[in-house]
Amino acid sequence: MRREDRGNIILSGFMGSGKTTVGRVLARSLRMHFVDMDRYIEEKAGRSVKEIFAENGEAYFRALEARTVRELAKEKRYVVASGGGTLMDPENVRAFREGGGTVYFLDVPAAALKERLKNDTKRPLLQVPDRNAVIDRLLLERRPKYLAGADRIVEAGAPISVVAQRIAALHGYDLPETAFRTHRRIRRGGRRGKERA
Ligand code: S3P
Repeated sequence: MRREDRGNIILSGFMGSGKTTVGRVLARSLRMHFVDMDRYIEEKAGRSVKEIFAENGEAYFRALEARTVRELAKEKRYVVASGGGTLMDPENVRAFREGGGTVYFLDVPAAALKERLKNDTKRPLLQVPDRNAVIDRLLLERRPKYLAGADRIVEAGAPISVVAQRIAALHGYDLPETAFRTHRRIRRGGRRGKERA
């Protein structure tokens, strides 16, 4: 199959599951474009996700997300890091699929997620006294939906290069794990919303 015909890679999963980090590595190694939905929305809105939640509420943010999904679904050769709540709406899953995208769910054990998220200050849903209880509750509610919305489930409690290689293989790329190793530090200036390869 020609590279152009493989469709977009859509990364799904809980906060802290590595969607952004893995997505950036995948895009660079497969010479695809990368977009992180949260960063993209922040750039367009001129405000952080935290500010949008605080000033306009979660429903408003979800509407921005839905609009962004419809826009990105039309793009070609993109790796999209969705937000942890984006694919809770089956209409968003459907829109990405209609655009030819494949949804990969990054499945990470709860204990690892809690460890990765313990010092987070940016995610509005986690700025609560008992963060781990919220993570447990959200996981219970969301995991069935991540599974239902996924074309493929990826065991993602592993090093970034291993997870990236797994996804690439499922997407039809026969490349060794070494092709996804990051020896360079991720560029500081490379944190814009939409990144061209
Ligand atoms: C959210 C996840 C966040 C961000 C927002 C809401 C969620 O994205 O979209 O804070 O509902 O799980 P990440 O998964 O990139 O942290």
